[in-house]
Amino acid sequence: MINPGRLDRGYEKYAAEYEEKALSVLRSGWYVLGREVEAFENEFASFVGRRYCAGVANGLDALYLAFRALGIGKGDEVIVQANTYIASVMGITMNQATPVFVEPDEYFGIDPEKIEKAITDRTKAVLAVHLYGLACDMEKINAVCKKHGLKLVEDCAQSHGARFDGKMTGSFSDIGCFSFYPSKNLGCFGDGGAVVTDSEEYLQKIKMLRNYGSAKRYYNEEVGVNSRLDELQAGLLRVKLTHLEELNKERDDIAKAYLEGIDNPLIILPRIREKCNHTWHQFVIRCTGRDELMEYLKEKGIGTIIHYPVPPHLQKAYAYLGKKKSDFPISEAMSDEVLSLPIYNGMTKDEVKTVIDTINNWQ
Ligand SMILES: Cc1ncc(COP(=O)(O)O)c(C=O)c1O
Repeated sequence: MINPGRLDRGYEKYAAEYEEKALSVLRSGWYVLGREVEAFENEFASFVGRRYCAGVANGLDALYLAFRALGIGKGDEVIVQANTYIASVMGITMNQATPVFVEPDEYFGIDPEKIEKAITDRTKAVLAVHLYGLACDMEKINAVCKKHGLKLVEDCAQSHGARFDGKMTGSFSDIGCFSFYPSKNLGCFGDGGAVVTDSEEYLQKIKMLRNYGSAKRYYNEEVGVNSRLDELQAGLLRVKLTHLEELNKERDDIAKAYLEGIDNPLIILPRIREKCNHTWHQFVIRCTGRDELMEYLKEKGIGTIIHYPVPPHLQKAYAYLGKKKSDFPISEAMSDEVLSLPIYNGMTKDEVKTVIDTINNWQ
């Protein structure tokens, strides 16, 4: 069975380095918010091209804390694309703010043309999600935000190393939010996340909030949360970060083989936005007979995943927003048609060829 997102081979490639780092952290006697976290924060900020980074417990917390640091709460609206993963939306609603959905463009990113029409006097921010490893159109999005005085947050959970016009995703906004969930391009070995920013004020606020609202030990300024990156994950992320460009290159080679090899007319292949490199967190095809294709591939021993079968506005969790089917037809069609093909570090040429041949033989 070709498992769509296997992680063991990615680990094996650098196993000796990971194991050496893990042992050194275990033997250090210091396990939460220490030297490894600080070093990772510095290295990751410089990788993204920002002044500051703060490690947090996961990508959802990164989003939640970002909006909280920006002072966005009850009565405020945040514009976000309707085809995103639900965590993007939860980062907004955990602050009691209201998500205002707009449709994506053909590259699965928020459509800048639609943002302006969704702005009201309650709009405070835009959340751009660089879905599947491809940047949104940051030039146009930045222009709209500037024109209307809106804050901009980037959800970079799927875009480690993805650039727009030569600049790293996470460096365009007030705050960039990352997840290091194991399956991400820069994934750790448990949960992890980070925010990046150029603002010292936001940095200090998030560092305070992630630690029970405490900047000085046992003195609490606000009701915060416990959302800290641990030393083991930070140490392992430091190792992986040194290999991220080559890990992304490996994914790019697999994607190129798919793009060149898959020629079944029933399949729509992903396209790459101008001025962007794609980091292929997911290789997402579209097909109107998606469910049959998925079943056929499964029978042939090829696992695939749907990212995502139900858009957030149709989830039970967000029934209170009062949205219904057909409110966002572009996003809803994507949910019905998208399919993520296997793509992972350590995927062999034979496995790639099997996927290509099997898809081309489907009628
Ligand atoms: C687009 C997006 N945003 C946010 C998240 C949340 O990250 P985490 O799982 O680390 O909370 C994820 C990943 O799961 C994601 O894909």
